[in-house]
Amino acid sequence: MSEEPVVEGQEEKQKVFPDEYWQYDREGAYRTIKAMPDHIRAGYRLGEGVRPARSFSRVVVAGMGGSGIAGDLLKELVDYDNDTKVVVETAKGYDAPKTVDGDTLLIAVSYSGNTEETLSTYKTAARKGCQVLLVSSGGKLEELAKVNRHQHLKLPKDLQPRMAVAYLFFPLLRVLENAGVVKSYAQEVDELAAALRRQDVSAKAAELSGKCYGKTPLIYADQSFYPVAYRWKTQFNENAKTTSFCHAFSEMNHNELLSFENRAGAYHAFFLSTDKEHRRVAKRIALAKDVLQQKGVSVTEINIKGPLLKQVFTTIYLGDLTSFFLALRYGTDPTPVELIERFKRDLGPFLI
Ligand code: PA5
Repeated sequence: MSEEPVVEGQEEKQKVFPDEYWQYDREGAYRTIKAMPDHIRAGYRLGEGVRPARSFSRVVVAGMGGSGIAGDLLKELVDYDNDTKVVVETAKGYDAPKTVDGDTLLIAVSYSGNTEETLSTYKTAARKGCQVLLVSSGGKLEELAKVNRHQHLKLPKDLQPRMAVAYLFFPLLRVLENAGVVKSYAQEVDELAAALRRQDVSAKAAELSGKCYGKTPLIYADQSFYPVAYRWKTQFNENAKTTSFCHAFSEMNHNELLSFENRAGAYHAFFLSTDKEHRRVAKRIALAKDVLQQKGVSVTEINIKGPLLKQVFTTIYLGDLTSFFLALRYGTDPTPVELIERFKRDLGPFLI
């Protein structure tokens, strides 16, 4: 059943955010972000018929930036929400990990299908006789799938990679489900999409964007939730075009905590807590919040309850919208990433 994406009308938009700001959303990022519930359902369906031919004990997900996050999230769900011995690793460079062998499923994910690091990792891994699944909306990855007769999962076109996060992640989860590596997520996916459609988090996100306006957003989360903190950081970078940094508990207590001693600059710290952290980590988060506040850093704690998949995507949704509103506050169109594109052009062609 297809439902219309939930997007507020002009009147509702004005209630959330002053009228003069909406002009900066020239390419419709708001509509795309708000369509996440539909992307979730459609992404999960995309993976339905994709079944690895044989079993495997290791999964390597190669991908960069907005595509690569799908691998980080997959690792999180496999490690912290499932009882399996299958290991998921991510590869974010030019070479496949040394451990890739015939017992590995290599998933190369690139929304454009043209990211050189991902193409290179695919090439080095494929030589080692692993199973291969290629995921893209087209590009060289699709061409190579045809030439090398590798399975290809085609994504819908015309999105920014980072705005296709649900299309990138949910098919991968479904493939691991089809392979018997993870439990069935059908019901959780359904409930998650329905919950996101029901929730009106735009006003909350608009308010959060005000808290970090003119400041560098810092994002902290437990190690098990780190990919979500990283997603917030990269969305601040790419949507709001601002510096942002993230770190994980409890490692940050062993170094970064001290950094506010001499230079507690213009920061706003977001603590993304779940109810699943080790009880000592929950205590560490509370203490660290106090330390930062004493140093003059403003803080916000975000705590989304429920199953891990729901926590992950509800928090991502809120972060995506927060960075969207921050972009508007800066008078910036959230969608284009011209500098990244120019940088890729400046690198010149890469022959694999
Ligand atoms: O968000 C972006 O545009 C980037 O982070 C890209 O995702 C990254 O450069 C990799 O490109 P692709 O996702 O097409 O593989």
